[in-house]
Amino acid sequence: MHRFHYKNNELYCEHVKVAAVAKAVGTPFYLYSYQTLVYHYQQIEEAFAPVNPLICFAMKSNGNLAVVRTLINQGAGVDIVSGGELQKALKAGADPQKICFTSVGKTDEEITLAIKKRILLFNVESLAELSNLNAIAKRLGKKPQVALRLNPDVDAVTHKSITTGTLKNKFGIDLSTATNIFRSKKRFPNLNINGVHIHIGSQITQSAPYIKAIRKILKFIAVLRSEGIAVEYLDIGGGMAVDYKKGAAQTAQQFANDVLPLLKKAHIKIIIEPGRFITGSAGIFVTKMLYLKDNGFKKFIIVDGGMNDLLRPALYDAYHEIVPVKKKPGREIKVDVVGPICESGDFFAHDYKIPEVKRGELLAIMTAGAYGYTMSSNYNIRPRVAEVMVKANSFSIVKQRETLKDLMRGESLPKFVK
Ligand code: LLP
Repeated sequence: MHRFHYKNNELYCEHVKVAAVAKAVGTPFYLYSYQTLVYHYQQIEEAFAPVNPLICFAMKSNGNLAVVRTLINQGAGVDIVSGGELQKALKAGADPQKICFTSVGKTDEEITLAIKKRILLFNVESLAELSNLNAIAKRLGKKPQVALRLNPDVDAVTHKSITTGTLKNKFGIDLSTATNIFRSKKRFPNLNINGVHIHIGSQITQSAPYIKAIRKILKFIAVLRSEGIAVEYLDIGGGMAVDYKKGAAQTAQQFANDVLPLLKKAHIKIIIEPGRFITGSAGIFVTKMLYLKDNGFKKFIIVDGGMNDLLRPALYDAYHEIVPVKKKPGREIKVDVVGPICESGDFFAHDYKIPEVKRGELLAIMTAGAYGYTMSSNYNIRPRVAEVMVKANSFSIVKQRETLKDLMRGESLPKFVK
C-alpha cells in the first residue's frame, strides 16, 4: 500500500499534485508520503503485537530528520550503523534506550559516544570488537549491554551484495566462537553480554530463510540456557522486502504469521530492525525529461536525475517502476531511461515500455524511499537533491537541495599549487 495515485491522470502524493511540488522545488527531488510511512510502521507493529517487539527503524534506509522523527513519534526505536546516525537519531528525538548499534567496524570514537549516550544495545560482530568495547567501557567506568551478532550461515536468497548471513560474508560471529564467548563471559567484566542478533540480508521476499536462521539461533540460545547462561534479547534484524514489482513481497502479516510461532516459544525480548519495509514505498524520485535520443539501435530518454541521486539500478541492477507524472493518451515507446552522468551504468531502466515523453515532462521513479537519498553522492559535482514530505494536502521541504557552495566547503589550495 502506498499513497501515490492518479486522479484525473495526474500523479498525486496523498492530496498533493506531484507536479505542483516540482514547480515549487525544481527537479530532481525525493518525495515522501507521511501517511505511507506511518501505515507501514503500524503494519509491523500490529503484525508483531503478540510478541510486543521493540521496533528499531533502520535509518540507513532513510535518515531524513522528518522521516526519523515521524517514526519516533509512532514509538519507534532506531537501528544505527555509525556515530553520524547516532547523533542524528538523538537529534530526531530517539530514546537512547531504544537504540541498537550494529556495525562490523565501530571506531573507538563511535563506541565511546554510544556508551556515553547510554544506548540500549551494542550488536557486536567480532571477538576483537568485543575486547575493544570491554576496554573502552572499563576506561569509562561503564558496563554496556551487548548482543552478539551471530552469523547463522543461512542464504537469504536475495541479491549477492545484500546477503549478509553466510560465512562468505564479513558479518557476525560464527556460532562456535559465539558459544565460547558466552561460556567465558567473565573475560569481559565491563560488558553485560545478554543478547543475540541476526540480520541475514535485505529485500528478502520469503520467510523461509528467516525461519531457518531463527531456528538455528533458538537452538543456540537453548544450549546456552541449559548451561545456566542468561539470554534476554533476540534481535532478528531487518530485511523484509517491498514490492518493487507488484506481488513480489510478503506482507508484514504473512511474515509475522510465519515467524511468530517460533518467536513466542523463545520467551525472550524481541527486537526487529525494519528499514525498507517502512520507507521503500513511501518515497518516489521525481525527475525531468531532458532529451530523447534515437541512435538507430536504441532509444534513450535522458533525464535530469542520475545514478548519483538514485544508485540502486546502477549498483544492483535493481528494478524500479517508472511512471509519467501526467498521463496522456498516446503510443508506448521502448526506451532506456538514463541520467546525465558520464558512465554507461547510469541508468534507471533498460528496454522499458513507457508512454511517449516530451522534453520538460516529469517522470516518477517509484519505491525510492529506501536507500535512495541515503546512498546518493556528489559524483560529477552534482548537488544532492531536495527532499520533500507530504501530509494530506500540504507539503514541506524537509531537506534543501544542496548548493555548489555546500559542495566546495572546506576545499582550499595549498601554497605549492598556487
Ligand atoms: N539491520 C541491519 C543490521 C542492517 O544491516 C540492515 C540493512 C537493516 C537492519 C535494514 O534492512 P532492511 O529492512 O532495510 O532490508 N542498499 C541496499 C540495502 C542494504 C541493506 C543494508 N543493511 C539496497 O538498496 O537494496
